[in-house]
Amino acid sequence: MTRSIAFPEGFLWGSATSAYQIEGAVDQDGRGPSIWDTFCATPGMVRGGDDGSVAIDHRNRIPQDVALMAELGLQAYRFSVAWPRVQPDGRGPVNQAGLDVYRELVDRLLAAGIEPILTLYHWDLPQALEDDGGWPARDTALRFADYAHAVGEALGEQVRRWGTINEPWCASMLGYAAGVHAPGRIEPGAAVAAAHHLLLGHGLAVDALRAAVRPDADIGITLNPYPVVTDRDDDADRDAVRRVDGVANRLWYDPILRGRYPDDVLADFEAVSDLSHIRDGDLAIIARPIDSLGLNYYRRHHVRFRRGASVGKPWGQWPGSPDVELVDPPGPKTDGGWAVEPEGLTEALVRLWEEYDPPPLYLHEIGAAYGDEPGPDGEVRDDRRIQWLEAHLEAAADAIAEGVDLRGIMVWSLFDNFEWAEGYAHRFGIVHVDYDTLERTPKASARWYRRVIQANGLPPAPDPV
Ligand code: FCB
Repeated sequence: MTRSIAFPEGFLWGSATSAYQIEGAVDQDGRGPSIWDTFCATPGMVRGGDDGSVAIDHRNRIPQDVALMAELGLQAYRFSVAWPRVQPDGRGPVNQAGLDVYRELVDRLLAAGIEPILTLYHWDLPQALEDDGGWPARDTALRFADYAHAVGEALGEQVRRWGTINEPWCASMLGYAAGVHAPGRIEPGAAVAAAHHLLLGHGLAVDALRAAVRPDADIGITLNPYPVVTDRDDDADRDAVRRVDGVANRLWYDPILRGRYPDDVLADFEAVSDLSHIRDGDLAIIARPIDSLGLNYYRRHHVRFRRGASVGKPWGQWPGSPDVELVDPPGPKTDGGWAVEPEGLTEALVRLWEEYDPPPLYLHEIGAAYGDEPGPDGEVRDDRRIQWLEAHLEAAADAIAEGVDLRGIMVWSLFDNFEWAEGYAHRFGIVHVDYDTLERTPKASARWYRRVIQANGLPPAPDPV
C-alpha cells in the first residue's frame, strides 16, 4: 500500500536528460566530435556497437518534445548543453549555431511554463581537449570555465538554475581509471588528476557563471552519492567500505563543502599519484559557495575485501585500492541488473545533510531501467517502474521527515535513450521511444507521474485511461 504523502509546498517536479544521450545530430550546427563519438567508434567499447549519432534526434524535434513535456505536466526540465556544439574544439570563439539550439530549447521551455535546469557538462568533452590531455590536464579546467562563461553570457538572463558538472565520479573514475566510459583510459594516476581538475573546473565555472548570469541564479553541481555497505564483519571489509566511500562520496563532498580533501583518501591515492596536480589555492576555488546541490541516486555499493580483486583492470574504479570488489546483493533487480534499494536514498540524503550541512538539495536523477515495450493496444504498462518510483518518492519523503531540505525531484529519464556503454539496451524513460521510427509514446509511468505532480505527492488519483 502506498502511503499518503504530501510533499512540501513549492516542491519542484520534473524530469532529466543529457545531450549526448538524446540529441543525435552530431554533424549539425558545426558541432565538433566529443570523446563519446570517439569511444563509440572504438570496437568493443559500447554494447552492440551503438552510438549517439542519431539517438532520439531530439536536436531536430525540440518543438514536439517540449510540447510533450508540457502535456506531461512537468514543472522543470533538466538537460545538458553539448560543449562541442558550442565550442567545436573546446576552446576559442563560440559557435553561434550551436548556442542557438539551446536558446530555442530554453525559449520554448519558458513559453510552456517549464523551468530549465541547465547542466554544462554531462560527459561529452570535446575530443580536441582530450587530444591535449583531457581532464587529467589542468588546462581543461580553465577551458571549462571559459565555456561556462560563454554559455552564461548567452543564456544567463533566461536560465536561473545552473549545474556545472554531472557526476564527476563517473567522468573521472569510469573514464580514466576503469576505462569503461569515454575516453576509455586505464590510468589510475590520471584518474586522480582528472577528479581534481573536474572539481577545479567546477569551482572556476561557479566564478565564471556568477560574473555572467542573473543575480538570483541558483548555481550548483550534481553528484552521485552511494551508501557503501558490506555484509561481512571484518577489519579488511570495513576498510574496503572506507576506501570506496572515500572515492565515491567524500572525495567530492569534502572539497566542495569543506574546502579540503579527506586525508585518508589522499593517502590511498599516493599509491598511484604524487598529487602534484593539487596546487595552493585550488581548494579555495573548489569550495566556492553554491546555492544548491544536485544528487543522483540509483542504488548502494556493496563491497568486500578480496586480494587483487581488480587485477586485470589494474586499479578498477578505486585508484590505490586494488583489493576492493563490488558484489551484487540478493534481492530484486531492475532489468539493468541494479539492485532496488529505496532505503539507500534516505540514507544518502540524511548522511549528507547531517554530516556536511549542505545548501538545499535537489534529486537531479532517480529512475530505473525496465524494458517494457508497447502492448498490442499500443500502451506501455511499466508497472515495475511506477513501483520503483513510488518507493523512492517515499524514501525521499522519509528524508524530508528527518529534516533534510530536499526541494525537488527530476526523474531519470524523460525519454528512453543512449545509455552510455550499454547502448540502447537499457530503457530508463517514462516516455518510450521506438528506435526505428523515433516515435515517442508516454508510458503508464508518465501518466502516473503527471498525477503525482498534480497532487504534489502520493498516492495520485487513479489513472482515468
Ligand atoms: C547516471 C547518468 C545518466 C544515466 C543514468 C542511468 O549515472 O548521469 O546519464 O546514464 O546514470
